[in-house]
Amino acid sequence: MSRPAVLFVCLGNICRSPLAEAAFRAEAERIGLNVEVDSAGTGGWHVGHAPDRRAQAVARRYGVDISGYKGRQVQAEDFRRFTHIVAQDADNLSDLMRIRPDDATAELSLMLDHAGRTGQSVADPYYGDDEGFEVTWSDVTTAARGLARRVERMLRTGGPGD
Ligand code: 4NP
Repeated sequence: MSRPAVLFVCLGNICRSPLAEAAFRAEAERIGLNVEVDSAGTGGWHVGHAPDRRAQAVARRYGVDISGYKGRQVQAEDFRRFTHIVAQDADNLSDLMRIRPDDATAELSLMLDHAGRTGQSVADPYYGDDEGFEVTWSDVTTAARGLARRVERMLRTGGPGD
């Protein structure tokens, strides 16, 4: 496999996927995994915006500064540039499957597939309270650990990492 590259996707790219990106970056750094990491939204409302202040706050509580992240929308090129595209919920996954170009090479999955919760969605905390962001951080942290191990195995064996 070429250098792995992981793109985390949610709806707005201001709550869940920036937290997934931050958690995965931290885990990759912790285990010494050389990987490109980014996040994007299926929607375009928050292009150029920093993450939601509640997402920034929960990341800061766990030692990560995401204030410099900027929202962007998924584009066709992402399906060729990234080896893995990880949707936060089932709607994100069906939107990705709908816009996936014919020559896509990225492997699509759901975030919680990597946390032993196959088929489940990371709940959208946007319309909720601060506690929801704690749940999001916990979910994406667990999944980031599982995904990092999977990518590490793929690099070592050249196989799918299952
Ligand atoms: P996210 O949350 O998909 O986790 O970034 C949302 C952020 C913004 C909106 C919806 C969900 N919105 O409708 O603006």
